[in-house]
Amino acid sequence: MSSINRTVLTLDEFTIQSLRNLPHATGELSSLLRDIGLAAKRVNVEVNKAGLVDILGDAGTVNVQGEEVKKLDVYANNQFMGVLQRGVSCAGIASEELDDFVAFDDDVSNQSKYVCLFDPLDGSGNIDVNVSIGTIFSVYRRISPKGTPVTKEDFLQKGRNQVAAGYVIYGSSTMLVYATRRGVNGFTLDPSIGEFCLSHPNLKCPDSGKIYSVNHGNFFQLEDGVKKYINLCQNKTKDNGGPYTQRYIGSMVADVHRNLIKGGIFMYPGTIDKPKGKLRLLYECNPFAFIVEVAGGRATNGIQPILDIEPSELHQRSPFFVGSSQMMDELESCTTTVA
Ligand code: AHG
Ligand code: MN
Ligand code: MN
Ligand code: MN
Repeated sequence: MSSINRTVLTLDEFTIQSLRNLPHATGELSSLLRDIGLAAKRVNVEVNKAGLVDILGDAGTVNVQGEEVKKLDVYANNQFMGVLQRGVSCAGIASEELDDFVAFDDDVSNQSKYVCLFDPLDGSGNIDVNVSIGTIFSVYRRISPKGTPVTKEDFLQKGRNQVAAGYVIYGSSTMLVYATRRGVNGFTLDPSIGEFCLSHPNLKCPDSGKIYSVNHGNFFQLEDGVKKYINLCQNKTKDNGGPYTQRYIGSMVADVHRNLIKGGIFMYPGTIDKPKGKLRLLYECNPFAFIVEVAGGRATNGIQPILDIEPSELHQRSPFFVGSSQMMDELESCTTTVA
């Protein structure tokens, strides 16, 4: 087994070096990303102990999304919120697990530049069966004046305004991947030193791929154009770029991470029962749309780019299609030709 390379940059080193030369850089974004890295390490420790300590299972409550809350959802939410509240860069947060946004509203926080939105634990239905789960985050510059508590309008910004977005995947190794407009970079947690280390510099999403990811259990509830595209995926042969492989973990973080690296398309369309699908625009779709666009791919709700949607509610849902640009083109050729 090869030894670990000690010359690679840590998350903090990389972030400070890459952001310090930007105009108007104050170090606040670096500090925010460091805080997120710290919260991720704390959640990672607990995820790794799941099964040994009393952290599996339901918390016994239902969240604002109407979902059974897991104990790890609560733990992860509290870690991210707590670390960001103690830090100096974040003026407030919104989370999948909280009914409303939280303005930290103290002297330091009211001077802070950023708000952060997150899905503290993505794929929480997979916690109890030891399958990869994740955290998703999204960072915006506040609109409200400094010196005041943040307001709802700071959180209801279109995804195009994101300053940074990223995710953590608690998988066979733990990784933190984040994007700014300058690029997407991935860091793997080196458990021997407790640091995220740059392992996937300048990630690019391949223009095409052979993986499609969708919950086939919903097939008969999908609109005809999406069904047509899925049929096309199933009928690919080596003569037209196939055969394709269907992969669906049920943790979006893990599904989109794989497709980002290997090339592919992930879909959570609207269904008859849930016309807006399942995924949350602010906590799930926007951050991944930003990351994948910066990496060269595309993301839409089936009609327009996800990043152009003006949100009206914190917890609003959206159909979501994201992935390699040529596969997105082919999807659209199916959905626009079927009425
Ligand atoms: P969360 O655990 O944050 O509520 O999100 C779960 C989401 C997402 O991770 C995944 O892609 C999707 O739910 C799976 O839903 P289905 O089981 O309906 O396919
Ligand atoms: Mn949930
Ligand atoms: Mn989620
Ligand atoms: Mn979640």
